[in-house]
Amino acid sequence: MDEKKVMLSGIQPSGDLHLGNYLGAIKNWAARTEEFECYYFMADMHTITVRQTPADLRRRTLEQLAQYIACGLDPEKNTLFIQSHVPQHAELGWVLNCYTMFGELSRMTQFKDKSAKHKDNINGGLFTYPALMAADILLYQPDFVPVGEDQKQHVELTRNIVQRFNGVYGDVFKMPEPYIPKAGARVMGLTTPDSKMSKSIPEGCVFLMERPEDIQRKFKRAITDSDTENPVRYDPASKPGVANLMNIYSAVTGKSFDKIEEEFAGQGYGKFKPAVGEAVVETLRPIREEATRILADKAYLESVYKAGAEKASYVANKTLRKVYKKVGFVAR
Ligand code: TRP
Repeated sequence: MDEKKVMLSGIQPSGDLHLGNYLGAIKNWAARTEEFECYYFMADMHTITVRQTPADLRRRTLEQLAQYIACGLDPEKNTLFIQSHVPQHAELGWVLNCYTMFGELSRMTQFKDKSAKHKDNINGGLFTYPALMAADILLYQPDFVPVGEDQKQHVELTRNIVQRFNGVYGDVFKMPEPYIPKAGARVMGLTTPDSKMSKSIPEGCVFLMERPEDIQRKFKRAITDSDTENPVRYDPASKPGVANLMNIYSAVTGKSFDKIEEEFAGQGYGKFKPAVGEAVVETLRPIREEATRILADKAYLESVYKAGAEKASYVANKTLRKVYKKVGFVAR
């Protein structure tokens, strides 16, 4: 039998997971469990490139794990782990820092954005972050790296590093491909339909653990437009708010855009918005309940992240030994 292709991704536990993370990423990861050998991690080492409150970081990391599982990532079938529990990330990260150019790092959009946003803390980690991300990826020799559009540049840089490193030492790393979800999977902010849903704009962001009444309130306040002729119609260019709501509704109900247009024909946004809210509430309800249950079971969570780290470490170590040997380190 053919070996399964490998898939890997991570999310920073820098904020609570939201509908965009679920529909744009985690739901699709869960759907690929059988097809791929999958590694998913909480990127806590990346998170400290921006100052964090330690207790919050710890809590969010565990919550994120519980939510991954509640979203359908079965820990028996996927390797779920916490980045800082697998020391090979830091170790390979250092080596790759030495194969990543200052100029390349300077061109990274995320670095430019984040250093503009955190002017008082433009630290070295923020700058070299993509080399650590390359290590995260390359340790597991994945075929595919599912990431949002905003991370594509980092995966491209990883590919440059592979080319550079393999060019010197031979075939050490497998060339990974970014795996960008199609436009439809992109969830935009409910109050900012031209930019993706983000925790930094909480009024337009629906969190996975949010109470149903709060979710409903956000949907009722979602930005639409003043079209009274033919309101619920899929036209992303001129009706981005409505297109986003249709996207969300379609993703949680499985209905096509045509079907949705039919369903709400002749009706205004006053009917449509709460219907989307209700569908989202019902989608998130079992996830919230399951995540709450899992989070209360500390022994279970611990068993998951320990087993995950052990498995990840075993694989990561094989790559790291090879790299250490290639660059000329004396074997331990
Ligand atoms: N940089 C990613 C983000 O901010 C998170 C991340 C870290 C990641 N390491 C990764 C994603 C490796 C994919 C693969 O969203």
